[in-house]
Amino acid sequence: MVTDIYGLIPRGYSLLLTGPEGSGKTSFSLQWVMKGCNEGKHGIYVTFDETPNALRRRATRMGWDLQDLEDVGLLTIIDGFYPRIGIKSKENLTTRPDVDYLLLKIAPLVTKSGVSRVVVDSITSLLISTRTLSIKSKDGGEGQNIKQKTALIRMSEFLKNQGITVIFTEVETSNDYPQLEQFLIDGVIELKLMKTDEGFERRLLIKKMRDKEHPMHYIDFTIAEELGIVFK
Ligand SMILES: Nc1ncnc2c1ncn2[C@@H]1O[C@H](COP(=O)(O)OP(=O)(O)OP(=O)(O)O)[C@@H](O)[C@H]1O
Ligand SMILES: [Mg+2]
Repeated sequence: MVTDIYGLIPRGYSLLLTGPEGSGKTSFSLQWVMKGCNEGKHGIYVTFDETPNALRRRATRMGWDLQDLEDVGLLTIIDGFYPRIGIKSKENLTTRPDVDYLLLKIAPLVTKSGVSRVVVDSITSLLISTRTLSIKSKDGGEGQNIKQKTALIRMSEFLKNQGITVIFTEVETSNDYPQLEQFLIDGVIELKLMKTDEGFERRLLIKKMRDKEHPMHYIDFTIAEELGIVFK
């Protein structure tokens, strides 16, 4: 049975998408925004993990032209990558690794262009950066980290109140997971790389989806050239 996971994500919802490196977080989130764009819904993609151009190139291989969508105003990419590593960005829209600063960038777009879907990819990079920037503080950046996490929840509440759905991606690292308190988020989807005799298989699990009936079993999926995420 094929389950349309995207169809299960309600409007005005906050979703945490977790998984280890390479498990498909960016592919899943980008495809979700693309599905919205196909229905005329404006999406914002905040990228902290890779450059906007890398995102555009990867989308091309999946059959989407991000630049076209940006040109017609259906998609806005906010570059968090270059500012995070201290390199000047050539993008029109950039953000520091600071949630309140990011919200100041997003808020006018939300009111102006009827945004429906927002992705922040990944909160792991964001939190690593904010901790690093304040590492010299007495608590080693812990206080700043807690402030940022609270600001992420504030941001999700702001967006939800406007009927916007937000996906936060989080890298499931062994030493610092979970980073965001999952009970403060409406839904949690875990992407998995399951070991088999031949290698790895991709699976996802909907851990929770507030106010929704949802599958409780693992759902297999693949990521393929031209097709993107395909649920099995
Ligand atoms: N165009 C494509 N065609 C086929 N497979 C692809 C394609 N793009 C990505 N993949 C597969 O998806 C994997 C990475 O997916 P993705 O970048 O979405 O994961 P991620 O969880 O965001 O990783 P990271 O934690 O490194 O950001 C690749 O390693 C590759 O196996
Ligand atoms: Mg990624």
